[in-house]
Amino acid sequence: MTAVSRSLLPGSTLMLNTDFVNLKSYENKNADVLALTEKKGGMHMLYVSELHKSYRTGSRTYEVLKGVSLNVEKGEFVAVMGPSGSGKSTLLNCISCFIPYESGLITLSGEKLSGLSEEALAKVRNEKLGFVFQDFMLLDGLTVRENILLPRIIHGEVTADGEKNADRLLKLFGIDAIRDKYPAEISGGEKQRTAVARALINNPLLILADEPTGNLDSRSSRAVIDSFMEARHSLDATIFMVTYDSFAASFCDRVIILKDGTVFRTLENKGSRPEFQGQLLNMIKEMSGDDI
Ligand SMILES: Nc1ncnc2c1ncn2[C@@H]1O[C@H](COP(=O)(O)OP(=O)(O)O)[C@@H](O)[C@H]1O
Ligand SMILES: [Mg+2]
Repeated sequence: MTAVSRSLLPGSTLMLNTDFVNLKSYENKNADVLALTEKKGGMHMLYVSELHKSYRTGSRTYEVLKGVSLNVEKGEFVAVMGPSGSGKSTLLNCISCFIPYESGLITLSGEKLSGLSEEALAKVRNEKLGFVFQDFMLLDGLTVRENILLPRIIHGEVTADGEKNADRLLKLFGIDAIRDKYPAEISGGEKQRTAVARALINNPLLILADEPTGNLDSRSSRAVIDSFMEARHSLDATIFMVTYDSFAASFCDRVIILKDGTVFRTLENKGSRPEFQGQLLNMIKEMSGDDI
Protein backbone atom coordinates (compact mmCIF):
# COMPACT_ATOMS: atom_id res chain seq x y z
CA MET A 1 0.00 0.00 0.00
CA THR A 2 1.68 3.20 -1.08
CA ALA A 3 1.31 6.55 0.66
CA VAL A 4 -0.37 7.89 -2.47
CA SER A 5 -3.06 5.27 -2.72
CA ARG A 6 -3.52 5.43 1.02
CA SER A 7 -4.12 9.16 0.89
CA LEU A 8 -6.84 8.64 -1.68
CA LEU A 9 -8.87 6.30 0.45
CA PRO A 10 -11.99 7.32 2.33
CA GLY A 11 -11.04 8.10 5.91
CA SER A 12 -7.52 7.56 4.67
CA THR A 13 -5.31 8.31 7.63
CA LEU A 14 -7.60 6.38 9.91
CA MET A 15 -7.75 3.30 7.71
CA LEU A 16 -4.07 2.60 8.07
CA ASN A 17 -3.50 -0.75 9.59
CA THR A 18 -0.08 -1.82 10.59
CA ASP A 19 0.12 -3.77 13.82
CA PHE A 20 -3.30 -4.68 15.02
CA VAL A 21 -3.93 -4.87 18.72
CA ASN A 22 -5.48 -7.95 20.11
CA LEU A 23 -9.16 -7.22 20.53
CA LYS A 24 -9.58 -10.06 23.03
CA SER A 25 -8.35 -8.06 26.01
CA TYR A 26 -10.75 -5.32 25.09
CA GLU A 27 -13.69 -7.71 25.00
CA ASN A 28 -13.44 -8.34 28.74
CA LYS A 29 -13.74 -4.65 29.55
CA ASN A 30 -16.61 -4.64 27.15
CA ALA A 31 -18.77 -7.01 29.22
CA ASP A 32 -21.04 -4.27 30.60
CA VAL A 33 -21.57 -2.94 27.10
CA LEU A 34 -22.44 -6.38 25.80
CA ALA A 35 -25.12 -6.74 28.46
CA LEU A 36 -26.58 -3.40 27.44
CA THR A 37 -26.74 -4.13 23.77
CA GLU A 38 -28.05 -7.64 24.04
CA LYS A 39 -31.50 -8.26 22.70
CA LYS A 40 -33.69 -11.31 22.70
CA GLY A 41 -32.01 -13.96 20.61
CA GLY A 42 -28.68 -12.18 20.13
CA MET A 43 -26.92 -8.90 19.68
CA HIS A 44 -28.02 -5.81 17.78
CA MET A 45 -25.80 -5.46 14.73
CA LEU A 46 -25.72 -1.70 15.24
CA TYR A 47 -26.80 -0.07 18.47
CA VAL A 48 -26.80 3.69 18.99
CA SER A 49 -27.98 5.15 22.27
CA GLU A 50 -28.41 8.77 23.29
CA LEU A 51 -25.84 10.09 20.86
CA HIS A 52 -24.97 13.76 21.33
CA LYS A 53 -22.78 15.67 18.90
CA SER A 54 -22.23 19.39 18.53
CA TYR A 55 -19.95 21.57 16.43
CA ARG A 56 -18.32 24.67 17.82
CA THR A 57 -17.94 27.64 15.50
CA GLY A 58 -16.20 30.54 17.20
CA SER A 59 -18.01 31.07 20.48
CA ARG A 60 -21.18 29.37 19.33
CA THR A 61 -21.97 25.71 19.91
CA TYR A 62 -24.33 24.14 17.44
CA GLU A 63 -26.02 20.96 18.58
CA VAL A 64 -26.51 18.61 15.64
CA LEU A 65 -27.40 15.30 17.29
CA LYS A 66 -29.43 15.70 20.49
CA GLY A 67 -29.76 12.18 21.78
CA VAL A 68 -30.17 9.91 18.77
CA SER A 69 -31.05 6.30 19.59
CA LEU A 70 -31.58 3.54 17.07
CA ASN A 71 -30.67 -0.02 16.24
CA VAL A 72 -30.21 -2.14 13.14
CA GLU A 73 -30.50 -5.92 13.13
CA LYS A 74 -28.52 -8.44 11.11
CA GLY A 75 -29.71 -8.69 7.53
CA GLU A 76 -31.77 -5.49 7.70
CA PHE A 77 -31.72 -2.77 5.05
CA VAL A 78 -32.42 0.47 6.92
CA ALA A 79 -32.52 4.03 5.60
CA VAL A 80 -32.12 7.33 7.42
CA MET A 81 -33.93 10.30 5.92
CA GLY A 82 -34.13 13.87 7.12
CA PRO A 83 -33.94 17.46 5.94
CA SER A 84 -30.65 18.69 4.60
CA GLY A 85 -28.46 19.66 7.56
CA SER A 86 -30.35 17.41 9.98
CA GLY A 87 -27.17 15.53 10.85
CA LYS A 88 -27.39 12.40 8.71
CA SER A 89 -23.76 12.47 7.59
CA THR A 90 -22.69 13.47 11.09
CA LEU A 91 -24.47 10.39 12.43
CA LEU A 92 -22.68 8.12 9.92
CA ASN A 93 -19.34 9.74 10.72
CA CYS A 94 -19.90 9.17 14.45
CA ILE A 95 -20.79 5.52 13.82
CA SER A 96 -17.58 5.08 11.81
CA CYS A 97 -15.68 7.03 14.51
CA PHE A 98 -14.34 9.44 11.91
CA ILE A 99 -15.40 12.28 14.21
CA PRO A 100 -15.61 12.48 18.02
CA TYR A 101 -18.88 12.95 19.88
CA GLU A 102 -19.67 14.25 23.37
CA SER A 103 -21.72 11.39 24.73
CA GLY A 104 -23.66 8.29 23.83
CA LEU A 105 -22.98 4.67 23.12
CA ILE A 106 -22.36 3.02 19.76
CA THR A 107 -21.78 -0.71 19.42
CA LEU A 108 -21.23 -2.94 16.43
CA SER A 109 -22.35 -6.51 17.12
CA GLY A 110 -21.86 -5.80 20.82
CA GLU A 111 -18.43 -4.23 20.48
CA LYS A 112 -18.12 -0.67 21.72
CA LEU A 113 -16.35 1.39 19.09
CA SER A 114 -15.58 4.65 20.85
CA GLY A 115 -13.00 3.28 23.27
CA LEU A 116 -10.88 1.53 20.65
CA SER A 117 -7.33 2.54 19.83
CA GLU A 118 -6.65 3.92 16.37
CA GLU A 119 -5.11 0.61 15.34
CA ALA A 120 -8.11 -1.40 16.50
CA LEU A 121 -10.43 1.08 14.83
CA ALA A 122 -8.55 0.78 11.56
CA LYS A 123 -9.10 -2.96 11.76
CA VAL A 124 -12.82 -2.52 12.46
CA ARG A 125 -13.17 -0.10 9.54
CA ASN A 126 -11.30 -2.30 7.12
CA GLU A 127 -12.74 -5.66 8.15
CA LYS A 128 -16.09 -5.09 9.84
CA LEU A 129 -17.47 -2.02 8.08
CA GLY A 130 -18.00 -1.35 4.39
CA PHE A 131 -18.37 2.21 3.09
CA VAL A 132 -20.24 3.54 0.06
CA PHE A 133 -20.12 7.29 -0.62
CA GLN A 134 -22.03 9.62 -2.89
CA ASP A 135 -18.98 10.29 -5.06
CA PHE A 136 -17.89 6.64 -5.37
CA MET A 137 -14.32 7.14 -4.10
CA LEU A 138 -12.77 4.78 -6.62
CA LEU A 139 -9.08 5.02 -7.43
CA ASP A 140 -8.63 6.20 -11.03
CA GLY A 141 -5.44 4.23 -11.58
CA LEU A 142 -6.97 0.88 -10.67
CA THR A 143 -9.33 -1.27 -12.72
CA VAL A 144 -12.84 -2.15 -11.54
CA ARG A 145 -11.60 -5.50 -10.24
CA GLU A 146 -8.56 -3.96 -8.54
CA ASN A 147 -10.78 -1.33 -6.90
CA ILE A 148 -12.98 -4.09 -5.52
CA LEU A 149 -9.91 -5.84 -4.14
CA LEU A 150 -8.54 -2.65 -2.56
CA PRO A 151 -9.56 -3.45 1.05
CA ARG A 152 -7.71 -6.78 0.64
CA ILE A 153 -4.67 -4.94 -0.73
CA ILE A 154 -4.76 -2.64 2.32
CA HIS A 155 -5.05 -5.71 4.47
CA GLY A 156 -1.68 -6.72 3.11
CA GLU A 157 -2.46 -9.66 0.88
CA VAL A 158 -4.85 -10.78 -1.78
CA THR A 159 -5.53 -14.44 -1.21
CA ALA A 160 -7.09 -16.87 -3.65
CA ASP A 161 -10.17 -16.60 -1.48
CA GLY A 162 -10.18 -12.82 -1.94
CA GLU A 163 -9.85 -13.19 -5.71
CA LYS A 164 -12.73 -15.66 -5.72
CA ASN A 165 -14.87 -13.29 -3.68
CA ALA A 166 -14.10 -10.41 -6.10
CA ASP A 167 -15.12 -12.56 -9.07
CA ARG A 168 -18.30 -13.59 -7.32
CA LEU A 169 -19.19 -9.95 -6.57
CA LEU A 170 -18.41 -8.88 -10.16
CA LYS A 171 -20.93 -11.44 -11.39
CA LEU A 172 -23.49 -10.76 -8.66
CA PHE A 173 -23.65 -7.05 -9.53
CA GLY A 174 -23.49 -7.46 -13.32
CA ILE A 175 -20.13 -5.73 -13.76
CA ASP A 176 -18.05 -8.72 -14.81
CA ALA A 177 -17.82 -7.50 -18.41
CA ILE A 178 -16.16 -4.24 -17.27
CA ARG A 179 -13.79 -5.82 -14.74
CA ASP A 180 -10.66 -4.59 -16.54
CA LYS A 181 -11.92 -1.07 -17.27
CA TYR A 182 -10.83 2.02 -15.38
CA PRO A 183 -13.30 4.30 -13.53
CA ALA A 184 -13.05 6.97 -16.25
CA GLU A 185 -14.35 4.43 -18.77
CA ILE A 186 -17.53 3.36 -16.95
CA SER A 187 -20.91 4.93 -16.08
CA GLY A 188 -21.93 6.41 -12.73
CA GLY A 189 -24.16 3.43 -11.97
CA GLU A 190 -21.31 1.03 -12.74
CA LYS A 191 -18.94 3.05 -10.56
CA GLN A 192 -21.33 2.85 -7.64
CA ARG A 193 -21.92 -0.88 -8.13
CA THR A 194 -18.14 -1.29 -8.08
CA ALA A 195 -18.08 0.71 -4.84
CA VAL A 196 -20.78 -1.54 -3.35
CA ALA A 197 -18.79 -4.64 -4.36
CA ARG A 198 -15.65 -3.13 -2.78
CA ALA A 199 -17.59 -2.45 0.43
CA LEU A 200 -18.50 -6.15 0.54
CA ILE A 201 -15.13 -7.71 -0.29
CA ASN A 202 -14.24 -8.40 3.35
CA ASN A 203 -17.74 -9.68 4.24
CA PRO A 204 -18.29 -6.79 6.66
CA LEU A 205 -20.80 -6.85 9.50
CA LEU A 206 -22.33 -3.57 8.35
CA ILE A 207 -22.41 -1.44 5.19
CA LEU A 208 -22.62 2.32 5.76
CA ALA A 209 -23.79 4.29 2.73
CA ASP A 210 -24.09 8.09 2.55
CA GLU A 211 -26.47 9.13 -0.25
CA PRO A 212 -25.21 6.40 -2.58
CA THR A 213 -27.71 7.36 -5.29
CA GLY A 214 -27.21 11.11 -4.89
CA ASN A 215 -25.17 11.53 -8.07
CA LEU A 216 -27.11 9.10 -10.24
CA ASP A 217 -30.02 9.19 -12.65
CA SER A 218 -33.05 7.08 -11.74
CA ARG A 219 -32.03 4.04 -13.80
CA SER A 220 -28.56 3.92 -12.28
CA SER A 221 -30.03 4.54 -8.82
CA ARG A 222 -32.25 1.54 -9.29
CA ALA A 223 -29.24 -0.60 -10.29
CA VAL A 224 -27.42 0.43 -7.11
CA ILE A 225 -30.43 -0.26 -4.90
CA ASP A 226 -30.77 -3.64 -6.65
CA SER A 227 -27.16 -4.39 -5.74
CA PHE A 228 -27.91 -3.62 -2.08
CA MET A 229 -30.98 -5.86 -2.23
CA GLU A 230 -28.89 -8.60 -3.84
CA ALA A 231 -26.19 -8.19 -1.14
CA ARG A 232 -28.82 -8.64 1.52
CA HIS A 233 -30.46 -11.55 -0.25
CA SER A 234 -27.34 -13.51 -1.29
CA LEU A 235 -24.83 -12.45 1.37
CA ASP A 236 -27.13 -11.62 4.31
CA ALA A 237 -25.52 -8.17 4.38
CA THR A 238 -26.74 -5.50 6.81
CA ILE A 239 -27.09 -2.06 5.26
CA PHE A 240 -27.52 1.37 6.87
CA MET A 241 -28.11 3.97 4.18
CA VAL A 242 -28.55 7.73 4.40
CA THR A 243 -30.67 9.07 1.56
CA TYR A 244 -32.94 11.98 0.65
CA ASP A 245 -34.46 9.87 -2.13
CA SER A 246 -37.89 8.46 -1.18
CA PHE A 247 -37.70 6.03 -4.12
CA ALA A 248 -34.43 4.52 -2.87
CA ALA A 249 -35.72 4.49 0.72
CA SER A 250 -38.91 2.70 -0.30
CA PHE A 251 -36.91 -0.50 -0.90
CA CYS A 252 -35.77 -0.58 2.74
CA ASP A 253 -37.22 -2.63 5.57
CA ARG A 254 -37.36 0.44 7.80
CA VAL A 255 -36.85 4.16 7.42
CA ILE A 256 -35.70 6.28 10.35
CA ILE A 257 -36.59 9.95 10.04
CA LEU A 258 -34.20 12.43 11.67
CA LYS A 259 -35.44 15.87 12.58
CA ASP A 260 -34.11 18.57 14.89
CA GLY A 261 -31.32 16.32 16.09
CA THR A 262 -33.46 13.38 17.19
CA VAL A 263 -35.30 10.44 15.70
CA PHE A 264 -38.63 11.94 14.65
CA ARG A 265 -40.24 8.69 13.56
CA THR A 266 -39.51 5.18 12.30
CA LEU A 267 -41.58 3.76 9.47
CA GLU A 268 -41.73 0.05 8.70
CA ASN A 269 -42.16 -1.27 5.20
CA LYS A 270 -45.08 -3.63 5.60
CA GLY A 271 -46.95 -3.36 2.33
CA SER A 272 -45.91 -2.92 -1.26
CA ARG A 273 -43.01 -0.72 -2.31
CA PRO A 274 -45.20 1.97 -3.96
CA GLU A 275 -47.40 2.08 -0.84
CA PHE A 276 -44.35 2.55 1.33
CA GLN A 277 -43.03 5.31 -0.92
CA GLY A 278 -46.43 7.00 -0.61
CA GLN A 279 -46.15 6.79 3.17
CA LEU A 280 -42.67 8.28 3.05
CA LEU A 281 -43.83 11.14 0.83
CA ASN A 282 -46.73 11.84 3.23
CA MET A 283 -44.28 11.90 6.10
CA ILE A 284 -42.12 14.39 4.23
CA LYS A 285 -45.19 16.54 3.62
CA GLU A 286 -46.10 16.30 7.30
CA MET A 287 -42.68 17.63 8.19
CA SER A 288 -43.73 20.56 5.99
CA GLY A 289 -41.45 23.45 5.41
CA ASP A 290 -38.44 21.16 5.48
CA ASP A 291 -37.05 20.13 2.14
CA ILE A 292 -36.02 16.57 2.71
N1 LIG B 1 -17.14 20.05 10.46
C1 LIG B 1 -18.21 20.82 10.75
N2 LIG B 1 -18.07 21.96 11.44
C2 LIG B 1 -19.15 22.72 11.74
N3 LIG B 1 -20.41 22.42 11.40
C3 LIG B 1 -20.59 21.31 10.69
C4 LIG B 1 -19.52 20.44 10.33
N4 LIG B 1 -20.02 19.38 9.64
C5 LIG B 1 -21.36 19.58 9.56
N5 LIG B 1 -21.71 20.73 10.21
C6 LIG B 1 -23.08 21.24 10.36
O1 LIG B 1 -23.84 20.27 11.02
C7 LIG B 1 -25.16 20.19 10.47
C8 LIG B 1 -25.42 18.77 10.02
O2 LIG B 1 -24.60 18.47 8.92
P1 LIG B 1 -24.68 17.08 8.16
O3 LIG B 1 -24.50 16.00 9.15
O4 LIG B 1 -23.70 17.14 7.04
O5 LIG B 1 -26.17 17.08 7.63
P2 LIG B 1 -26.89 16.20 6.51
O6 LIG B 1 -25.96 15.11 6.10
O7 LIG B 1 -28.15 15.72 7.16
O8 LIG B 1 -27.21 17.15 5.40
C9 LIG B 1 -25.20 21.22 9.33
O9 LIG B 1 -25.79 22.39 9.83
C10 LIG B 1 -23.76 21.45 9.01
O10 LIG B 1 -23.53 22.74 8.54
MG1 LIG C 1 -25.04 14.57 4.26
